[in-house]
Amino acid sequence: MEKTISGVIIECVKGDITRQPDVTAVVNAANAWLRPGGGVAGAIHHAAGPELDKECRPLAPIKPGQAVITGGHNLPNKYVIHCLGPRYGVDKPEDRLLADCYRNALKLADEHKIDSIAFPAISTGVFGYPVQEAAEVALRTVKETIPSLRHVKKIRFVLHSDRDLKIHEKVLESL
Ligand code: APR
Repeated sequence: MEKTISGVIIECVKGDITRQPDVTAVVNAANAWLRPGGGVAGAIHHAAGPELDKECRPLAPIKPGQAVITGGHNLPNKYVIHCLGPRYGVDKPEDRLLADCYRNALKLADEHKIDSIAFPAISTGVFGYPVQEAAEVALRTVKETIPSLRHVKKIRFVLHSDRDLKIHEKVLESL
């Protein structure tokens, strides 16, 4: 489903973050050292190839809530924006740190004149953030950030399961 807020399309789809050829940037749910790892980070590095790892090394480490940008290498996207989400119950306050990820990623995208960006559900895998809570923070932050964006016109959430998709769709509907 999709919804338009102040001229910006917000979409929720089920899929794989590495297979979003029609967006300019994809977001990585990274680790502090910007290394491959599992989940989204593993999939992005695998699809992008070893040159992404090389480009990442001098940019690490990053802190929870921070976002950094690299090229997309062998991905079908021009850029990857790497965000370090909070570990649920460990990095606090987790809602502010998760909001920082979305806000900082969108600001960075806008500074690079990026028109379209796809996010995975940051922190909801290995980092243990409950999907319902994370979806509320993510979508609320996106809505709050939209008025300050000049270039970003499409924001997509790519969810890995039907359950995660449904949760995000319900939150998006209620925005
Ligand atoms: N496309 C879209 N979503 C995906 C994909 C994919 N290819 N693979 C996994 N997901 C989903 C997961 O189901 C989860 O809901 O992305 C969400 C985020 O999961 P993680 O990748 O585990 O990210 P996170 O919880 O932020 O943990 C980051 O995990 O892989 C390590 O090195 C990484 O230490 C870092 C930590």
